Amino acid sequence: MWIASLPEIRGELIQRVQEILGHGDKNEATLVVLGISTTAVVALTAYYLITRPKSLVPAWADLSVQSVALEDGVRGSPLAENGKYIYYFFEDAKTLHEGFKRGMRVSEDGPCLGTRTGPNKTYEWMSYGEVYERAKNFGCGLITKGMKPCTDSFLGIFSHNMPEWVIAEQACNMFSMVVVPLYDTLGPEACTFIINQTQMPTVVCDNSERTKALLDQIGNTPSLKCIVCVNFSDISQEIKDSAAKSNIELVSFTSVETLGSNNKQEEVPPRPADLATICYTSGTTGNPKGVMLSHENLMSNVAAVLKTVDINGGPSDIHISYLPLAHMFERGVQALAFQLGARVGFFQGDVKQLMDDMQELKPTFFPVVPRLLNRLYDRVMAGASTSRIKRTLLNLAIRSKTAELKRGIIRKNSWWDILVFRKIQNLMGGQVRVVITGSAPLADNVLAFSRCAFGCPVIEGYGQTESSAGMSCTLPGDFVGGQVGPPIPCNDIKLVDVPEMEYYARDGKGEVCCRGANVMMGYFKDPEKTKEAIDEDGWLHTGDIGEWTQNWSLKIIDRKKHIFKLAQGEYIAPEKIENIYVRSPLVAQMFVDGNSLQSCLVGIAVPDVEVLETWTKEQGIPGSTMTEWCSNKTLKEAILKDIQQCGKDSGLKSFEQVKDIYLFPELFSLENGMLTPTFKAKRAFLRKHFAQQIADMYKNLS
Ligand SMILES: *[C@@H]1O[C@H](CO)[C@@H](O)[C@H](O)[C@H]1NC(C)=O
Ligand SMILES: *[C@@H]1O[C@H](CO)[C@@H](O)[C@H](O)[C@H]1NC(C)=O
Ligand SMILES: *[C@@H]1O[C@H](CO)[C@@H](O)[C@H](O)[C@H]1NC(C)=O
Ligand SMILES: *[C@@H]1O[C@H](CO)[C@@H](O)[C@H](O)[C@H]1NC(C)=O
Ligand SMILES: *[C@@H]1O[C@H](CO)[C@@H](O)[C@H](O)[C@H]1NC(C)=O
Repeated sequence: MWIASLPEIRGELIQRVQEILGHGDKNEATLVVLGISTTAVVALTAYYLITRPKSLVPAWADLSVQSVALEDGVRGSPLAENGKYIYYFFEDAKTLHEGFKRGMRVSEDGPCLGTRTGPNKTYEWMSYGEVYERAKNFGCGLITKGMKPCTDSFLGIFSHNMPEWVIAEQACNMFSMVVVPLYDTLGPEACTFIINQTQMPTVVCDNSERTKALLDQIGNTPSLKCIVCVNFSDISQEIKDSAAKSNIELVSFTSVETLGSNNKQEEVPPRPADLATICYTSGTTGNPKGVMLSHENLMSNVAAVLKTVDINGGPSDIHISYLPLAHMFERGVQALAFQLGARVGFFQGDVKQLMDDMQELKPTFFPVVPRLLNRLYDRVMAGASTSRIKRTLLNLAIRSKTAELKRGIIRKNSWWDILVFRKIQNLMGGQVRVVITGSAPLADNVLAFSRCAFGCPVIEGYGQTESSAGMSCTLPGDFVGGQVGPPIPCNDIKLVDVPEMEYYARDGKGEVCCRGANVMMGYFKDPEKTKEAIDEDGWLHTGDIGEWTQNWSLKIIDRKKHIFKLAQGEYIAPEKIENIYVRSPLVAQMFVDGNSLQSCLVGIAVPDVEVLETWTKEQGIPGSTMTEWCSNKTLKEAILKDIQQCGKDSGLKSFEQVKDIYLFPELFSLENGMLTPTFKAKRAFLRKHFAQQIADMYKNLS
């Protein structure tokens, strides 16, 4: 064989594989090497020799002391010199409006917003200048129609991600008006509440369905006078009639632009301290709360992330926009992209087509939610499990790259990338250089896999809408999972005692509190809730329980609210347990419950349909639907055993393990009311909904 004629290459490979295997078994190593195709081997070796890896840890960062101590247990970023927060990244970009103008300048009026109209189509781009011109026209149009260019003017946007979203937002930024996103998942009552509370006169709406939803509630929203429809051809005569009857003006987006282009106005640029947006968040109960964020809040947050992650971005960067713009995470990433002069490409609107869109767009920024990474991980693992050589290679690849990660090296040009991970990287277009994840904890193995497979920094962030999105993020080059990194340089963090849960700051544990340039101005028209959230000294209380790691990075370990006691007085933090149980590939979602009358826990588990499809076949479990499978006792016992094993492996105490579960065939979702818009379980609702099943389980256990 050809490989045998290159003894030195084979020798080096065998030696490398032996190192990686860690036990120096030459026969096994030789077998592995012979399993690799010879052409790949040559390419790999050449690559290895010309690509000496470098560490990614930024020069300023010390991974063993990630944050600095300020007074009274407060900790900050080493990048905030002398405790001085960062308010902006570029001197000429202190508001969202200035950020966009900077992007227009540094990209030399380069491509700004891209869309794609079908699976085999290319992206079509609108330049920065075109977007700016359209935003200006749209803003002038709104003003001509009676909106005042000031921060008391609210424009609702009720739409999925699309260029008009950004155009409307930039119009507001240009004329000091305020964007208020509406979103379906809050439910119709919440939209009504928001329109009524802000007294907004105008909403931009993408399609007929959402227009109809607004018109259906019109009796409760007397302030609403005008709906601007992005796709006017989608609006039926029936809807037009209904609007006319309610005295609502229905106009097309382009007609507002045309109106504006004939009635030009002077721009009214905002100041940094001006209100930029009100982003409503829902708690588990009560009305949604309007988080008021200023330009400075947002720009400081973006600047702090840019400083920390040090991506050295510019006009050649491309962001894939698919996470909802109604949330601050996506808004933040776009604000970051615009001030760099980067491109923002929209997905077609269907998450199933996301990979296809990415292959065409070739993004360099890829923000993700953990669920997406979990799915990718499960798929790759399932794919590899079909062949012994594939499995061995994948495991070796992960082990080898993990060893590199531990030296702070992240790259995509190692032989393992070419051999194993290149395919995964190509799924995402092959150019991704930063992955940012947040919103829920990521399992260590999934995080480690992602870091290996993507060959780029996978940054895990932590924060909430009230902090403009981010409060902390992991440092590039830090491979340790299960943590959310040190404070970013726009804010400080301290941990505050929660005696009822026995968390004390003196032990490095407590409720995470945040103070800084990114902390919201308050809740709109709700001084009481504002006072509950932000104390007199300006500390935002998050309700999350954190712990300082040995290296002074933050780790989220619990949630303040959802704690209950079992009969013998043991404290239970159900979310911690759920996060462990969903590491079982069989389980997609989990709800753990109990109360002080019971001595043990029970749970509701939603199995992972994709995994069950193959797994049930292997195990000979009859049926072809989730409902059939979920009623099978054998399957239930198997899942119970598997999650209990996960619990054991993660060090759950025996009273923290569920003793029985009920299998529910349908995912918890916003639509069925089981998730909050931030994708957390609606615990009170679930408890009520499954009251019978929970009671039955306890009856059988007693
Ligand atoms: C702390 O940092 C050191 C390297 O400086 C690393 O070896 C260790 O694993 C880290 N520990 C944690 C818990 O982050
Ligand atoms: C897209 O292109 C592929 C291959 O070029 C082809 O097989 C597929 O049918 C095309 N799909 C559509 C919707 O045109
Ligand atoms: C609208 O707001 C007013 C006060 O601003 C309140 O009295 C009224 O009940 C609200 N209506 C709805 C439907 O929320
Ligand atoms: C606009 O609506 C029409 C009619 O429903 C539809 O065919 C078209 O695809 C829509 N255009 C866009 C860009 O969504
Ligand atoms: C459940 O699956 C097992 C196979 O694992 C099968 O023997 C049993 O009959 C199934 N039970 C029902 C009620 O379908």
